[in-house]
Amino acid sequence: MNNPILVVGGAGYIGSHMVKLLLAAGHKVVTLDNLATGHRDAVSGGEFVHADLADRAALDEVFKRHAFVGVMHFASSIQVGESVARPDLYYRNNFSHTLNLLDAMVAHNVKRFIFSSTAAIFGEPDYVPIDEAHPARPINPYGISKWMVEQALAGYDRAFGLKSVCLRYFNAAGADPEGELGERHQPETHLIPLVLQAASKRRPDIAVFGRDYDTPDGTCIRDYVHVMDLCQAHLLALDKLAAGGDSDAFNLGNGNGFSVQQVIDAARRITGQPIAVKESPPRPGDPARLVANSERARSVLGWQPQYADLDVIVGHAWEWEKKMPACF
Ligand code: UFG
Repeated sequence: MNNPILVVGGAGYIGSHMVKLLLAAGHKVVTLDNLATGHRDAVSGGEFVHADLADRAALDEVFKRHAFVGVMHFASSIQVGESVARPDLYYRNNFSHTLNLLDAMVAHNVKRFIFSSTAAIFGEPDYVPIDEAHPARPINPYGISKWMVEQALAGYDRAFGLKSVCLRYFNAAGADPEGELGERHQPETHLIPLVLQAASKRRPDIAVFGRDYDTPDGTCIRDYVHVMDLCQAHLLALDKLAAGGDSDAFNLGNGNGFSVQQVIDAARRITGQPIAVKESPPRPGDPARLVANSERARSVLGWQPQYADLDVIVGHAWEWEKKMPACF
């Protein structure tokens, strides 16, 4: 393919890994990012456009210059708690600005869209593992904003022939196996990087948000999926659309749940550090268990996660964490 792929949010955590993977696979890449939370130095190659999705003229300009094969959209606000306090930001950034992007695609006849969705569209699950047939009942503005985009995409397909694949990530984690990229959120809210910051003494301890959940050790269970495996799924999803495939949606996880305590134990083992724990109240809105059923991604997309092992995920994140003080 000679035409480039547009990666929106390619300076962020998952987007930057995507840019690296696309370049390694021989694709041309244009990254568009407003650098509100991303890092320019995380974009490892291709063209970089510093622009905001609110700026429709800037979008038109980049769509005029390139005939994109497709668009991968990673840019969004991602903190559940913040979304409850500032729904305006979440509906605007995640929904309204995504419509700007979709409208620019339609105007410039770009018809393939891969969307970073989330397990948060399911809310409190009726059952786990969660398959694609599970009803979507998001319980916070973050999840609602992502679900609104998914629903809008169905309409854009019917009306404008815009084909999309929605990828609902469970808990994205890990880092580039070559050690060049990793998670650099500010503030960091995710469990694995926070546990590793406690291991490296960048923070004094890790807060455990509740031990009274209905799980074997009382801490919440999540399905941690390696960032590179998520990126592989994006490549496969774009291939599916390029081959004339229909719009679709897939849940992406490993199907294995690990509790907060198991993650801390794995981090202690891998880092050799004691890692102090601070017992803390439950975080509002945290479901006890979120585990994906990703059989459809495997059978329809041919997705085969390479780094499904929690120790590998934590190990890669630890290699990255050890480089962190130099970066900040
Ligand atoms: N946790 C702690 N202490 C911390 C941070 C997290 O105990 O300091 C716990 C949480 O309570 C949760 C688990 O660790 O049980 C994982 O928490 P994360 O914040 O890492 O991830 P979430 O499962 O809350 O959220 C992730 C994504 C969100 C997305 C959500 C979808 O990060 O963007 O999955 O369910 F919305």
